[in-house]
Amino acid sequence: MLEGPALPWKVIKLGLIGSTQAAAREYLASGHGAGTVIVAAGQTDGRGRRGRSWHSPEGGLYLTASLRPFGEVGLVPLMGGVAVAQTIREMASIDAALKWPNDVLIGGKKVGGVLAESGWAGDKIKHVLLGVGVNLNNPAPHWLPDATSLSKELGDMVDVDAFLHRLLETLDLYLLRMESDPELILSSWRELSLTLGKMVCVTDRSGDMVSGFAVDVDQDGSLIVDCGGEIKRVVSGVLEFR
Ligand code: BTN
Repeated sequence: MLEGPALPWKVIKLGLIGSTQAAAREYLASGHGAGTVIVAAGQTDGRGRRGRSWHSPEGGLYLTASLRPFGEVGLVPLMGGVAVAQTIREMASIDAALKWPNDVLIGGKKVGGVLAESGWAGDKIKHVLLGVGVNLNNPAPHWLPDATSLSKELGDMVDVDAFLHRLLETLDLYLLRMESDPELILSSWRELSLTLGKMVCVTDRSGDMVSGFAVDVDQDGSLIVDCGGEIKRVVSGVLEFR
């Protein structure tokens, strides 16, 4: 048990499993509530955003934290990205940065990602499953040229447990501020962002594209894009730099 001001984290470490998201759902259903963190040594069915798979061999960090809804739920993925990037910065002194909404990059290459899934009771969110995958000591997938791992960037092995511990402490501090000071999450995200001030193209689930200048992130985590004078807000999508 790791006692933080927002949540006492109860960390459950598993071996090779399908997906920590699926395992976290099962643990929730059997009464393990907010604060439960499922950590897997590896995943055979790791899930990424938009139904993509997340390559999860041993050596990486794969976790799902069950959260009660704190404040604006749209900020959870951004908060997760900020916490991962800051943990990398503090532990490895490497300038990790963020691509909207929640890709964690080193030198423009993806080292980690965040997946937030809400569980609903009627029209109310009852929990959020925050999934985090970080390439630590595992080689990044060779078929993704824009992927990297922290050990490759660092030129040294990473202490996975120490990284997990620091990440949970950082998440805890941000969770505490989600309700009282959401602007802190947004300003931290802006400081770490590689997205703002760039020309971008965001494709949403139905294939519609929004192209323009990324101006800011809104209170609900959406991206504000200036499309030649017309301001558009993008709630979710896949972003590419133009
Ligand atoms: C992304 O597409 O960038 C998000 C990737 C999230 C992967 C993590 S690994 C731990 C957790 N379990 C999963 O199946 N997915 C998330």
